Amino acid sequence: MLYLFRFDFTLMNPPVTILDYSPKYRSAIRMILTKIGWAEQYISSAEQNMHHLSQDTENYGVYMAVINEIAVGFLYVQYYAWNQLCQIQGLAVDPDVQRQGIASALVTRAEDFAKSKNARGIYVDTPTLNTGGRKFYEAAGYQMGYIMPRYYEDQLDGVTYQKFFEAVKVE
Ligand SMILES: CC(C)(COP(=O)(O)OP(=O)(O)OC[C@H]1O[C@@H](n2cnc3c(N)ncnc32)[C@H](O)[C@@H]1OP(=O)(O)O)[C@@H](O)C(=O)NCCC(=O)NCCS
Repeated sequence: MLYLFRFDFTLMNPPVTILDYSPKYRSAIRMILTKIGWAEQYISSAEQNMHHLSQDTENYGVYMAVINEIAVGFLYVQYYAWNQLCQIQGLAVDPDVQRQGIASALVTRAEDFAKSKNARGIYVDTPTLNTGGRKFYEAAGYQMGYIMPRYYEDQLDGVTYQKFFEAVKVE
C-alpha cells in the first residue's frame, strides 16, 4: 500500500519573531557581526548604537530577530523629521540562518516604523562591494540612488538604496 505524506517544511524553520532591542541582546550583536567577519570598528559601533539609540524610541526603531529565544539578527532605523525620511543604519543576520527571510522580516518592521512616522520613504547605505547586501535590497524593492566615493574608507565607496512609499506627486 502506498502512503503519501505531506511534509510541512515550516516545521524545519521555526518562525522568526521581531522584538524591540533590550540590553540582554548586546552580546548577540557582537557575536553575529564577528561571525560575519566585520572589522572591530564596525562591530563596536553597531553594539553601542543599538544600545544607546534604543533609548530614543521617538526617533529610532531598534529591533532584534529572535528564533527560539536566540537572537539571530538585528536592525536599527532612524527617522528624520526635517525631510520625512527614515534611514536604516544597521542590518545583519547570523550567517547560519541567512536566506530564510529574517532580514526581510526586519526590514518590514523598519518600514512599519517609517510609516508610523508618516515618513515618505526609507533609504540605506551599503558598501558598493557588498554584493549580497545589494541583492537583498534590490529583492526588497529598493532602487539604487547614488554612489558616494570614499564613503566608508578611502578605497571603499558607498551606494545608497531607497524606497518611497508613494509615487512622486506632480503638481
Ligand atoms: C544582507 C543580509 C542582511 C540578508 O539577510 P537574509 O536574512 O539572508 O535575507 P533574506 O533571507 O530576507 O533575503 C530575501 C531575498 O533577498 C535576496 N538575497 C538575500 N541575500 C542574498 C545574497 N547573499 N545574494 C543574493 N541575493 C540575496 C534573495 O532574493 C532573497 O530571497 P531568496 O532567499 O528567496 O532568494 C545578510 O546576508 C547579512 O547579514 N549580510 C551581512 C551584513 C549586510 O550586508 N547587511 C546589509 C547591508 S549593511
